[in-house]
Order: sequence, then C-alpha cells, then structure tokens
Amino acid sequence: MDQDMLTAKGSSEEETHLKMPRISIFGLGYVGTVYAAGFASKKIEVIGFDIDEKKLKLLASGISPIYEPGLSELVKDCVHKDLLKTVSTAEDAVLNSDVTFITVGTPSNSDGSIDLKYITETSRVIGEALKKKDRWHLVTVKSTVIPGTTEKVVKKIVEAASGKTAYKHFGLGVNPEFLREGSAVEDFMTPDRIVIGVSDEKSKVELERIYSGFSCPKLVTNIRTAELIKYVNNAFLAAKVSFINMIANLCQKIPNCDVTAVAEGIGLDKRIGKHFLRAGAGWGGSCWLKDLNALTNFARKNGLTLPLIDATLQVNDMQPFVMVELARQLIGKLSNRRVVVLGLAFKPNTDDMREAISIKIVNMLLNEGAEVTVYDPAAISNAKEIFRDTVNYASSANDCIHNADCALIVTEWDEFKSLKPEDFVRHMRIPAVVDGRRIFSPQAFSSKLRFAAIGLGANEYFNPALAVNAMIVSDSEKILLVRRTIEPFNGLWSLPGGFVEHDETVEEALTREVEEETGLKIRPKQIFDVFSHPLRSPVKHVVTMCYLADVLGGSLKSSNESLEARFFSASEIPARLAFDHHEIVEKYMKSQREYWKTGQGLVYG
Ligand SMILES: NC(=O)c1ccc[n+]([C@@H]2O[C@H](COP(=O)([O-])OP(=O)(O)OC[C@H]3O[C@@H](n4cnc5c(N)ncnc54)[C@H](O)[C@@H]3O)[C@@H](O)[C@H]2O)c1
Repeated sequence: MDQDMLTAKGSSEEETHLKMPRISIFGLGYVGTVYAAGFASKKIEVIGFDIDEKKLKLLASGISPIYEPGLSELVKDCVHKDLLKTVSTAEDAVLNSDVTFITVGTPSNSDGSIDLKYITETSRVIGEALKKKDRWHLVTVKSTVIPGTTEKVVKKIVEAASGKTAYKHFGLGVNPEFLREGSAVEDFMTPDRIVIGVSDEKSKVELERIYSGFSCPKLVTNIRTAELIKYVNNAFLAAKVSFINMIANLCQKIPNCDVTAVAEGIGLDKRIGKHFLRAGAGWGGSCWLKDLNALTNFARKNGLTLPLIDATLQVNDMQPFVMVELARQLIGKLSNRRVVVLGLAFKPNTDDMREAISIKIVNMLLNEGAEVTVYDPAAISNAKEIFRDTVNYASSANDCIHNADCALIVTEWDEFKSLKPEDFVRHMRIPAVVDGRRIFSPQAFSSKLRFAAIGLGANEYFNPALAVNAMIVSDSEKILLVRRTIEPFNGLWSLPGGFVEHDETVEEALTREVEEETGLKIRPKQIFDVFSHPLRSPVKHVVTMCYLADVLGGSLKSSNESLEARFFSASEIPARLAFDHHEIVEKYMKSQREYWKTGQGLVYG
C-alpha cells in the first residue's frame, strides 16, 4: 500500500492532517467501527483492519458492519471522503499509520477470567509489522483488559515480535472505552471524560493530540490505573442497576408501592443521582457480565473477594425468574400458552444480543413448555442464530402479539412505547402484559387488561381481568369462587373471624376460614389458582369472583352470612366471559366509585 495514499487534500485540512497522527484500528466491532468512523469524521486518517473479511468488505464499500444510530451515515461519508479505509493485512495497517488502537474482543474463559487470545494475537501481528518500521509507533489498548495486561502481556509480545523496546522504539498507552451501545456515536462525539493511561511522555503527548478536539475532562493516569478504571466503572453501574432491581422485587411485595417513585425519590439526592436507577428485567450486554466476572476472578487471584460485585451478579441472575413468575401470575401455567417476547437486543437502538436478558427469558419460557414468539426491530437476524427454530419470529410488534396469551416487554424500544392497551386487547387472545422495562402507565394498562410490571407493588390498581384469568388458567380443574369480606385494618388484613395471622398469607387465612365455614376441603392448589393472580388486590379480586358467580347464577350462601363459596366446573363457565368482561367490569367499577363517594352501594364488596 502506498505510504502517501491518505495524504490530505486542501490547505486547511492539510494542516490538520499534518498535525494529526494517522490511526489504524485493529478490530472493527462495536467499538472499533465507531472509533474508525468517529476519528475519520474528525478529519483524522483512519485505516481499519479486522480478521473478519466480511466486515472489511462491508466497511470498504461504505457500509457499517454493525447497527448503531447515525453510524451508517458516518461510515458512508468518511469512506466516500477517503478518510476511512480498510486494509487486509496487519502489516499494511501498522506501516501506514502512526498510532494503532487495539479494539479486539476480550471475552471470558469458562472460569470467568479474561480470555486474552485476541489481544495476544493482535499484539503479535503488530509486533511483527513494527519489525519492518523504522519510525516510532504508538500502540494503544482500547479493549477492556485486566490491570497488568498491557505491561505484562501486550508490551512483552510486541517487544518479542518486533525486536524493539517499549518506550524507546514504540510507545504504549491504554485508553479505556466507555461508550454505550445504542448511543455509541453520540458518546464518541461527546464523552463524559477521556482516560489516558501512559508511562512515557511521548505516548502521552500523542494521545492528547489525538483527543485535542474533544472538550471533555481528560484524565491521565498510569497504565494499570487506567485499566482498572474501566472495570470499576462497569461494576459500579451494574451495581446501581442491580440495587434498584433488588428494591423493585421488594416493592412488588408492598401494597401501593412503585419502584419508579422510589427511584425518583432517591435519585433526586445529588449524592445518588438519577441515572441507572431504572428497574427492569435485568441487565445484559457483552461487557458487564464478562467484566464483572473478570474483576472478581482477578480479585480472587489476589486473595480478595468482592462481595458487592458477587451480589450484583446474583441479583441480575434472579430477574428473568421474576419476569417469568409475573407471567405465571397473570395467566397461570405457561405450558402450551402463546407467550411473546417484545424486545431481544440487550438494550434499545442496537442489534446486539450478547448476554441479552431476553435469551434467558426465552429459554425459561421454552422450558416451561410455552409456545414462544419473538420480535425485535433490529436484532431478529442475531436472534435467529441463537434460537434457531425453537421460537417463532414476528415481523412487527402487532404481528407478534396477535393471538397471544401473554406479552413480555424485555427491551424498551420506542416502537413498543407507543403501543396502547387497546392494541393488546384487540390483538391478543388473552390481553396480559408483563412490563419488564416500565414503559407503560400502570393506571392506563391495569384498568384495561391484565398487567404486571417489575417493581409495581400489590394493591395499587384494581385489575378486574384477574378474576377472569383465574377461570382461564383452571380450565381443566374445578374452580372455587369465593366471596369473602376482607378489609385492610391497621395494616393487617381483617377477616370477620379475626386478623390474618402474622405467619400466614391472606390465601392461607382464607383457605382456613373457608374450610371451617363450609366444611369443604380445599386443595391448596385451587385456592392458589384464585389468589396467585391478584397482583393488585386479593380483596377486590375475590369480590369480582363473587360477582361473576352471581352473573353465572351460582351465588351460594354458607351458614355464615359473610362468606359465599362454590366450586364451578370449567364447563359451567361460558368461555365468552373469559374475553368479554367489559360489561361486568364497568358495572363493578361504577358501584365501587359510588361506594367511595357515598360509603354506600358497594354491592359486591
Ligand atoms: N461493545 C461495547 O459497548 C464496549 C464498550 C466499551 C468497551 N468495550 C470493550 O472493547 C473491546 C471490543 O468490544 P466490541 O464490543 O467492539 O467487540 P466485538 O466483538 O464487536 O469486535 C471485536 C472485533 O475484533 C476482531 N478481531 C479479533 N481478532 C482480531 C485480530 N487479531 N486482528 C484484528 N481484528 C480482530 C473481531 O473479528 C471483531 O470484529 C472489548 O474489550 C470490550 O470489552 C466494548
């Protein structure tokens, strides 16, 4: 390749080019492609190199090998202007640049430790190319690597392969990357800070020169500290999300409690800050899991445990179970149910599914025997590589929820945010939604369909559909409809016969009472089927059940005035009631509103 091939055109541009070192980037994945196009857009000459020929070909023809908002346009423009080129050998890349950025992957070994195979191979080929170079060259590690890697691994390999000496014939730097997939271009253009890890002045000056066009704070540290900063950064962010997820799980147990309000309440404290306090189905992505595992592994090798990071990982492992449990609470058993997953990418605005929480959720649903359909605006082709023919693939959100029994929101794409309760009601066989990313208004959704959400406490909103739900899920069994007066009293549930005891649940108390009053033997499963659904209000749920019993002409009286109970067989319950319950709901809501206004007229309470 011609040494002068990237010579600038035009006088002012020429000046910039003369000042700016030419950059080669090794590894054209998420980080490498963004940096290649990003630096090129700042009029720095960039050469991209990757061992994946497909990526090289795409980039050479002006197409971004990865999806990131704004990246396609940037790549196209920079390739068109000859500022971004690709080469097919490592040697060409090194010989035609002044600075090399290593942006290859750093995956995990099976024990969680960092796998340096790509780093060592890249270091070797860079070293071999440097052997043929008679000018100083800067090697900068941008990949996330465990403290000590650059000095103990990269430096040694480059020295051995080149026969040259670090800090004399070539410089060494670490420049950890903090971009977020989904907003990577924006993060490149306006970073919060730039961390430069160096041991020698010349490398420092060169890296500062490259970043001279960025106005954010620049922190210069030694190499190992820069390496560690990246891990600590990821660990802290992951801990913050796991923390609020842990609190979300607690909120689900507290009547009238919503984690979003809790997060807002603490987020306004400047010492805490509002970012990364969105509770949800769990965090995923290529970096956090591998980096947290690598850090704990590294600590263990240094005779230390990192209990907060262990707990961060543990909380995250639980979240997919919480999602599946919420689905189960809404529609009962999941086997042979059509459950749909909206959102597969680990976050919106990316097609990346590496370590996405959707993978765990889909696999759990499949294990439960559900028939799973998935949809994602960008990640379907990646999903096909993972799920193959174990799931159905939909071409739109509406297509996905069509005829479904339960929809799980797993990635907060804007496309899903615009879905209305009516869309779910119109399309789904059973309108039941588990909001794993808190994108829907609980008020709007709970009044129209079966709705559950991460971190949404019990009792907050009345969900009349839950009563119908109990019948649907129990269609192979006999169903117990119970009317019982239960009221909250001083924070306890009060039954006419006494309070629910501290060590029993409302369900257990009711089972006990119903058995005592009616002499019926209730299998715990049956009462559970009824009560496992009222995420919001067991009381109102029972009330609604009773109302349905009345509608069906099944009202019964026991010896005790305050209790009515009857077993129905599934065939006694017209199927249409499962879907066409609006009239019942309206009537109930009306009488409830009346009751709250006047203290009278709550017929079914
Ligand atoms: N993805 C992110 O959001 C992100 C953010 C910050 C830091 N990081 C870190 O940046 C590094 C790269 O991450 P990524 O997500 O871009 O990875 P990636 O897997 O998307 O891309 C890595 C690329 O390196 C290429 N490669 C492997 N060996 C090579 C070699 N010998 N020569 C040239 N190319 C080679 C691969 O073909 C691949 O295209 C990792 O250490 C990661 O932890 C990633």
